[in-house]
Amino acid sequence: MRRHRIAAIPADGIGKEVIPAGLRVLEALARRDGGFALDVETLPWGSDYYRETGVMMPEDGLETLRGFDAIYFGAVGDPDLPDSITLWGLRLKICQGFDQYANIRPTRVLPGLTSPLRAVEPGDIDWVIVRENSEGEYAGHGGRAHRGHPEEVATETSIFTRAGVERIMRVAFDIARSRPRKLLTVVTKSNAQRHGMVMWDDIAAEVAKGYPDVTWEKELVDAMAARMVRKPASIDTVVATNLHADILSDLAGAVAGSLGVAPTANLDPSRRAPSMFEPIHGSAFDIMGKGIANPVATFWTGAMMLEQLGEADAARALIAAVERVCADGVLTADLGGTADTETVTRAVIAAIEGAN
Ligand code: NAI
Ligand code: MG
Repeated sequence: MRRHRIAAIPADGIGKEVIPAGLRVLEALARRDGGFALDVETLPWGSDYYRETGVMMPEDGLETLRGFDAIYFGAVGDPDLPDSITLWGLRLKICQGFDQYANIRPTRVLPGLTSPLRAVEPGDIDWVIVRENSEGEYAGHGGRAHRGHPEEVATETSIFTRAGVERIMRVAFDIARSRPRKLLTVVTKSNAQRHGMVMWDDIAAEVAKGYPDVTWEKELVDAMAARMVRKPASIDTVVATNLHADILSDLAGAVAGSLGVAPTANLDPSRRAPSMFEPIHGSAFDIMGKGIANPVATFWTGAMMLEQLGEADAARALIAAVERVCADGVLTADLGGTADTETVTRAVIAAIEGAN
């Protein structure tokens, strides 16, 4: 029996609704598969924990997490606490502490869902956006002086390192190579930003030499945003900086139908530390506690987690079950349906059990 140790961190808001649903689905897959078991520990970290203890996670939280094979994360964000405490005190602490430098964001229009783009059919959009997750515009390098005075100044410096760009390019080329179209679009803004972005282009060309079977092209980020809307079927794998990919992947989520279906993986491809799998959405103040959150993003990221743990069959079975349930029209309100979280979860579990 293969055993995988999972740290579950539901954290805040609808994270506390979708992660337990995801764990039930993963348990159903393990039962069906019979070849692996999940040892799950649910950690109570997040904003309630902060109210009790003054910290989002314990001082030795990263050491605790290091003992696990993967982290299954809900969302952080609390109506009464600033994001600088909640996001930085938990989610970003884990991403940065474990150098999860590759953020992988697949986008597809699932069967039964409608893209807001009029001409898009299911199958037209099948993208993977690879986001640099450790440096660039979000390196946190900068400062602020003369606060409140007319001469106040703030800087926000993007940091691009050769090591950082090379490693994310390799991840992107590897993913492009693993997919049928073997097509990678390298996104930059090298017409306006003449240093970091030009180095990004140069390194892409160098790394590309090791991947003669992958077709690659460059696209400026503004043109890329337009292309995602106008010619979505021309896109396959995309690599972009922290900021650019952050924006493009929200656009991708919207084009696919809802934020409620968009998953992501924060990977340490070197596997020195556990990787973290989460829905892209946040804690959703407007619907939390109502039991109506869409659990599909959490299920899909669960499939990404299984794949990374080497359970590719179970990952495929999970995606197939989610697709069947969506195609049957069992959809939550964000997708125009009437099902609640529990109904979708039960339907997916039934689809998994029926697939024996
Ligand atoms: P959000 O993603 O929480 O919600 C945006 C909109 O999408 C809301 O109307 C919400 O109801 C809807 N939505 C999101 N997920 C859904 C789901 N699974 N099913 C149905 N509807 C869904 O973003 P928002 O409102 O900007 O942020 C709320 C809090 O979450 C903030 O504190 C923010 O900082 C935090 N946040 C945390 C993230 C994380 O933990 N990775 C990511 C994004 C935001
Ligand atoms: Mg974002």
